[in-house]
Amino acid sequence: MPCPALPDGFDFTDPDVLHHRVPLPEFAELRRAEPVRWVAQPRGAAGFADDGYWAVTRHADVKYVSTHPEIFSSYLNTAIIRFNEHIERDRIDAQRLILLNMDPPEHTRVRQIVQRGFTPRAIRALEERLRARARAIVDKARAHEGPFDFVTQVACELPLQAIAELIGVPQEDRAKIFDWSNRMIAYDDPEYAVTEEAGARSAAEIIAYAMNMAAERKQCPAKDIVSTLVAAEDEGNLASDEFGFFVLMLAVAGNETTRNAITHGMHAFLTHPGQWELFKRERPSTTAEEIVRWATPVVAFQRTATQDTELGGTPIRKGDRVGLFYSSANHDPEVFTDPDAFDITRDPNPHLGFGGGGPHYCLGKSLAVLEIDLIFGAIADTMPDIRVAGDPRRLRSAWINGVKELRVSAD
Ligand code: HEM
Repeated sequence: MPCPALPDGFDFTDPDVLHHRVPLPEFAELRRAEPVRWVAQPRGAAGFADDGYWAVTRHADVKYVSTHPEIFSSYLNTAIIRFNEHIERDRIDAQRLILLNMDPPEHTRVRQIVQRGFTPRAIRALEERLRARARAIVDKARAHEGPFDFVTQVACELPLQAIAELIGVPQEDRAKIFDWSNRMIAYDDPEYAVTEEAGARSAAEIIAYAMNMAAERKQCPAKDIVSTLVAAEDEGNLASDEFGFFVLMLAVAGNETTRNAITHGMHAFLTHPGQWELFKRERPSTTAEEIVRWATPVVAFQRTATQDTELGGTPIRKGDRVGLFYSSANHDPEVFTDPDAFDITRDPNPHLGFGGGGPHYCLGKSLAVLEIDLIFGAIADTMPDIRVAGDPRRLRSAWINGVKELRVSAD
């Protein structure tokens, strides 16, 4: 039954719609009446079979698609963008070197290599350095007199430092890596005035920097993660260009996502003071997962059907694009009791904020959870009376649930 609440032409990836409110209230109606809905888009191109995509909004369906890569491929690009012509042909070729856009068996090969850098031991080894970083970031912010912007002063830095620590970027190079990363992710929002060309140039700079690192370590292996991933390429390690694209992927996947989880988490605490009191008192180990469910920093990713199939009774044709709306799935009342409540003790919490559990499930999840725990631990220790000092200003984006400014006071 078509969903009566939605006008024709309503597009869930329209930045003008998304940047006001996520999760969209329309999702609730859609989950009930039309959980797999065709969304026509006015200007299709770039080799897709259709000018539009299927919006998948129920938790069970998002999981199903994510765990069946043989039917729903990641190959044609996973980022869901409003107008397909943003993805030009030549960029599609480059995108194929990105883990997120690979299918098995290529994905399996690369993922097996790169996950050596994300073992529990590798993440634990970062913990003390990141704890000190989190503390230093919060101490510096606290020194402000009067209100300050939580996003630039607190949420931005730890995710970038974590990636830099992970791959061993030397201190003196971090400023330029941070600058490239930030420029690359500021695309849809005119306020940042970053052209697509400047974003692409920054991406190329990161790849070149990382390829250079890889080449050096191949010559002189050290006891670090880069050496582990690239040494002895013929024994099943990464080629230098594969490593370059992997670092690019980290700079995008691990940066803006975690930044927005931290910012939304802070806003959720400030607007739910009972939860903040609870956190300060008990520090529940379930907190970070609830923040990610609540924030769902990645609103949606997409897949492309490799064969005629069906989803929840709706026929899907080979070549159709399928949008996985994590932000809807994370509020599905079939799975979550009181889904619109922010409850840091929620357990179990099978949210899909890190993906639907298939082969692409977020590689950096443990690192992200650690970062969120450390930053809120530091805030609770050093500025427990933090207060909100203005409404958040939202990022204009087709697929990121972002906040670019959140004014707070801590004095
Ligand atoms: C994949 C979310 C932090 C690295 C993903 C996916 C999502 C996601 C939704 C796609 C899953 C799928 O398609 O099934 C998040 C969120 C984060 C976060 C919400 C923070 C709160 C990080 C961090 C890193 C990272 C810190 C690394 C430094 C990756 C990588 C992939 C990925 C490499 C691709 C995995 C693959 O294709 O096999 N993430 N992520 N993420 N994430 Fe994260």
